[in-house]
Amino acid sequence: MNIRLATVDDVAGLAQVYVESGRHHAAIDPLIHREPSEVEAVERIRAKLADAEATTFVAEEHGEIVGLLELRLDVPSTSGAILQMPPTAHVGISVRESRRNQGIGTALMQFAESWATNQGRSMMSLTTSSANAGAIRLYERLGYESYGLAMRKRIADKPPDK
Ligand SMILES: CC(C)(COP(=O)(O)OP(=O)(O)OC[C@H]1O[C@@H](n2cnc3c(N)ncnc32)[C@H](O)[C@@H]1OP(=O)(O)O)[C@@H](O)C(=O)NCCC(=O)NCCS
Repeated sequence: MNIRLATVDDVAGLAQVYVESGRHHAAIDPLIHREPSEVEAVERIRAKLADAEATTFVAEEHGEIVGLLELRLDVPSTSGAILQMPPTAHVGISVRESRRNQGIGTALMQFAESWATNQGRSMMSLTTSSANAGAIRLYERLGYESYGLAMRKRIADKPPDK
């Protein structure tokens, strides 16, 4: 398996991974997730690749994209602010459904940590749904710990029409 920077030639493969990630999230927490169509996924991936703030990597095997990882590098907190985050890399990750539990996610995360270290980052961060038990297990196994809590309350059955 090879991990490398994504290019525009990877859009179709990345979009497949993105659709499957949407399917997974819609299944575990449908209140705030849905599965995108392939067309939407292609558009979304194109936008991510064009976003100068984000860096996307692919895990590739025999010419097929089996996973993706997106990194965003944060600027350090401003002086005087209470929140003093060290230079941080935010990570998002997804692996093809058919290729999960084979070590690809672990390899991508380890790659991301060493890439971020080389970029002068001293902390990794990520956000996940509390319903995402498999992902949380992976992150904890790699040494990640929870440090915050997002809360929500549903106050209407559906959002008002805009
Ligand atoms: C979360 C996710 C990225 C993990 O990727 P992955 O490739 O399945 O991760 P790994 O294979 O490295 O590790 C997952 C499990 O496989 C096991 N594993 C690792 N290498 C293995 C191997 N060679 N053979 C068999 N199992 C293996 C690990 O022990 C781990 O077990 P655990 O679930 O008990 O902790 C993947 O499940 C995914 O894409 N999920 C849907 C999208 C998602 O939730 N993304 C995260 C959003 S925050």
